Amino acid sequence: MALQIIRHSLLSRNYAGFKILILYDSLHVVDVNKIVEYIQSLQKEDGSFAGDEWGEIDTRFSFCAAATLALLGKLDAIDVGKAVEFVLSCMNFDGGFGCRPGSESHAGQIYCCTGFLAITDQLHQVNVDLLGWWLCERQLPSGGLNGRPEKLPDVCYSWWVLASLKMIGRIQWIDREKLRCFILACQDEETGGFADRPGDMVDPFHTLFGIAGLSLLGEEQIKAVNPVFCMPEDVLRRINVQPELVS
Ligand code: FPP
Ligand code: ZN
Repeated sequence: MALQIIRHSLLSRNYAGFKILILYDSLHVVDVNKIVEYIQSLQKEDGSFAGDEWGEIDTRFSFCAAATLALLGKLDAIDVGKAVEFVLSCMNFDGGFGCRPGSESHAGQIYCCTGFLAITDQLHQVNVDLLGWWLCERQLPSGGLNGRPEKLPDVCYSWWVLASLKMIGRIQWIDREKLRCFILACQDEETGGFADRPGDMVDPFHTLFGIAGLSLLGEEQIKAVNPVFCMPEDVLRRINVQPELVS
């Protein structure tokens, strides 16, 4: 998934690579212990995670670390308590989360932080009504969602925002039919792919998140996709990974 956004981070690439191996039931081709050791080595004293040996700290990496370890059944390889403390220190007055303490709320980071808190069984620490309100305000008159105030709508936020709303049990707060129409308007009739906005060039990144968003909206022709891992629910059932969400 998401190979475009993960270009700068080894930890995020690791996570994407793992997901592909799990989809194809092929984890045996990698040395799992080495990967676990690598992830452990990236945790800092304050519980945060660096993305690689160059040391950039970001809540994206807390999510990628926890998600990879959860998929491997090895979450206890890191200091989960401290990791939770760091992610909670990135929570803002508006209920959202940023990439580091004090950073502006952004829907992509909110996805990472709510996903991280779902995996670590800490979603009760989120103010779901406040966060749900901020996320619903991402819907624009076109029906599309943006990632923060004053920005343009973009199909990939149909995933980052909708998945977060699903995790906190507030997906019914947005106008689902209007969002469905916006996502479908981003599909190119000739190639079948999706763009960020109607009329723009299509790419695999926005195609994945357009389809995954339609799945969360209940589109019948698309398999159920898990909002935390962005993977088919049947695959997660196979490996017995089912994080608890807010109902
Ligand atoms: C641009 O933001 C950034 C994105 C469109 C991607 C956001 C997604 C994440 C941070 C989540 C990454 C998840 C993983 C698992 C690594 P912008 O506000 O600069 O640009 P915009 O105006 O186009 O929205
Ligand atoms: Zn996008």
